[in-house]
Amino acid sequence: MKQEIVNYDGYDYDYSTYWKDRQYENISEHYVLNKFLNNERGEWFIDIGGSYGRLADCYAGKFQNAVIIDYSLKTLQKNYQIMTDKYPNLILIAANAYKLPFKNSSFDGGLMVRVLHHIDKQKEYFKEVARILKNDGVYIQEFANKKHIKARVKAILHRDKEINSLEPYQQPTINLEGAKGDGVPFLNYHSKYIENLLKEEGFQLEKKQGCSYFRIPLLKKIFGTKILVILEKVFQHFFAKTDISPSIFFKERLHKKEKSPAYIRLDDLLVCPSCKHEMIIDKTKAVCTNCKKEYFKKDNIWDFRTE
Ligand SMILES: C[S@@+](CC[C@H](N)C(=O)[O-])C[C@H]1O[C@@H](n2cnc3c(N)ncnc32)[C@H](O)[C@@H]1O
Ligand SMILES: [Zn+2]
Repeated sequence: MKQEIVNYDGYDYDYSTYWKDRQYENISEHYVLNKFLNNERGEWFIDIGGSYGRLADCYAGKFQNAVIIDYSLKTLQKNYQIMTDKYPNLILIAANAYKLPFKNSSFDGGLMVRVLHHIDKQKEYFKEVARILKNDGVYIQEFANKKHIKARVKAILHRDKEINSLEPYQQPTINLEGAKGDGVPFLNYHSKYIENLLKEEGFQLEKKQGCSYFRIPLLKKIFGTKILVILEKVFQHFFAKTDISPSIFFKERLHKKEKSPAYIRLDDLLVCPSCKHEMIIDKTKAVCTNCKKEYFKKDNIWDFRTE
């Protein structure tokens, strides 16, 4: 089944500019991730759709190797030097979240933040994540919540019962978070829907946390970032499990039978993203021993994008 991929390279958009005026959301998300990853350690960690590494400070110090994969090769190339100067254990790879170029049971942990709204085949994606994570691996999934408080009020006013269905909700408006244009997947989810899909792939929900309760421009103007962050922490504490916030984070633990060997170098982890067979890898070229597809390393970044 073919998936639609939202290609940020086509928009000529610098995603980091999106965050210039969003300190409140940025701090709120960091607060959740730092709580969730506090006691997590391991060899390999993956940030899927990690872009310019906004969240790298939450995991790079806790895991021996941290991999950011993103479909936007341009973003990775542009930010390579700054990111690897700051976090020398960071590896950047251009790849498609549905077709990851890694062996089974490669990673001790992973996360995906602000990307699932672009993933129109969620089941396929979760299968792929469960494949590359190790038994007992930690996985953090953030998603846009279709039942947030504003949507509920709107649904009551319009007597709209769709809000209670488990089906993902496609936002009708042209969105400004980097992916512009009509028809681009921009999905909001019911928390039960995500919980069920992850469960089917062997994940167990350990923690649930609402986030960015005050993502309302007027409130930001009146209170400012400092006060909103204080209020956010109070709300995160008392309303963690309610589905009233626009964003929800799940901390999941994967259970599977497969044994995981210890991988030391990146080359030990890599397989053909298309058919998952071994590749012959040299400094700048990798060739699949099975399907013969060729992949190249450009400006320090492997390009394993395939559809
Ligand atoms: C809104 S940005 C979020 C970036 C980062 N996770 C953060 O929170 O700062 C979405 C990112 O997802 C990436 N993306 C979207 N679909 C993807 C896919 N199928 N595979 C890999 N990356 C994808 C985009 O290139 C973009 O960098
Ligand atoms: Zn292949």
